[in-house]
Amino acid sequence: MLDSATFLTPAQIVAELDKYIIGQHDAKRNVAIALRNRWRRLHAPADMQREIVPNNILMIGSTGVGKTEIARRLAAIADAPFTKVEASKFTEVGYVGRDVESMVRDLAEQAVNLVKQRRKEAVKSQAAQAVEDAILDALIPPLPGVGSSVVKPGGLGFGGSTGAGPDDMPSSDLELNERTRERFREKLQRGELEERFIDIKVQQGGSPGIGLMGGQAGLDEASLQGLQDMLGSMMPKKTRKRKVTIAEARKILLDEEAAKLIDMDEVKDEAIRLAENAGIIFIDEIDKVASSNANKSGPDVSREGVQRDLLPIVEGSAVTTKYGVVNTDHILFIAAGAFHVSKPSDLIPELQGRFPIRVELQSLTKEDFYRILKDPKNALTKQYEALLKAEDVELTFDDAALEQLAGIAFEVNSEVENIGARRLHTVMSRLLNDILFDVPDRIGPNAHIQVTRELVEQRLQGMVRNRDLSQYIL
Ligand SMILES: Nc1ncnc2c1ncn2[C@@H]1O[C@H](COP(=O)(O)OP(=O)(O)OP(=O)(O)O)[C@@H](O)[C@H]1O
Ligand SMILES: [Mg+2]
Repeated sequence: MLDSATFLTPAQIVAELDKYIIGQHDAKRNVAIALRNRWRRLHAPADMQREIVPNNILMIGSTGVGKTEIARRLAAIADAPFTKVEASKFTEVGYVGRDVESMVRDLAEQAVNLVKQRRKEAVKSQAAQAVEDAILDALIPPLPGVGSSVVKPGGLGFGGSTGAGPDDMPSSDLELNERTRERFREKLQRGELEERFIDIKVQQGGSPGIGLMGGQAGLDEASLQGLQDMLGSMMPKKTRKRKVTIAEARKILLDEEAAKLIDMDEVKDEAIRLAENAGIIFIDEIDKVASSNANKSGPDVSREGVQRDLLPIVEGSAVTTKYGVVNTDHILFIAAGAFHVSKPSDLIPELQGRFPIRVELQSLTKEDFYRILKDPKNALTKQYEALLKAEDVELTFDDAALEQLAGIAFEVNSEVENIGARRLHTVMSRLLNDILFDVPDRIGPNAHIQVTRELVEQRLQGMVRNRDLSQYIL
């Protein structure tokens, strides 16, 4: 986390990214610097903090070479709120397109989720205690007149209960009830009752039926959302009885109890701060809103309009969200595009100036493909191995097979269309299609499937040779 004393150094950030992304060292270095810079800023003297602007990054590279992946992993490493938008989306709706401020509202939403999650984690054990009380109440309801969930384990000694009960209740009943509850509490704690069914009250989600239309009323998205939420919270919360096992009840109730323990106002404040200082907004397809020639008419006008709309947000402005005002001055923006037709210099100068760091991503080679198949933590081969492992089938890939696969993907990319590493997905799914279908019906548990070079050739080679076929299938 950004405000902790220890935060990953640039080299450590690159090392983390290396676990998922092959190659692209220049891009990794630069995003690592940008991330570390934010930590540096927060540790700079207060009067300087305001002055230090983030160095937004423009990533240039063709499709499927890792642009989005780098940004996404970066956010995960930083444990930072992250949102991805497509610049071209903003033109679709009309002249001005979708309201560009929505990206900041999305970011605020992400930040709130993140903070909520962290806080829930922090109150987990306290919530677990409350859950245990609630389950116990459902199992052995406390006798009327005696506080239920407020009784902490051991909080009410047996000896002390004499005369504590209501007049019409012999203290022995009370004592019995208490003793039974304690016995069941112990059973619960030992996990002996997990399969038993109990009735619990669960809250119905949200408040369906309230839908407001913006537009005509002249409401912007933020106030519309706020209004909807307000109406939602005014409606009585519906609860519903459900019969579930204790194990399930634990899961359901834990979330509810944890939510009760966290202060939403504090969450909102912290989330806003987090979004402002640590948020990352990824603007994809920025090249699609760059005008490719000097002829500024027709669709180009609206493209430039989108850039002009983006500008204040990237330069720093205050955006109202339903959680509060988010200042965008220190949000890190990473823009990306292929820039095949247009060039970064086709962006309006003000926007160019806001993305001073340019990194070019390399086209992936056959060797890169081979490593992408094999090395990343989430490598495709590892994903399929895990899928089949669930069926107790062992799947292994010969190195020669992976080389062959990489070669095929590369060939199809150069002959049909270059879609980068995404090609590996289609090639791999084609290769394994029959196997995935035959397990477990024809290939039973404990089988071992070894993917050899021959198997790859047999299943894919013909398709590669036949251009028409590979166009549709690979
Ligand atoms: N260098 C790489 N190392 C590992 N995996 C990669 C790499 N490049 C791409 N991939 C894989 O390919 C997929 C697509 O990559 P990504 O989404 O980053 O493409 P992109 O560069 O953002 O393309 P686009 O311009 O189309 O948005 C990812 O899911 C990732 O698994
Ligand atoms: Mg992308």
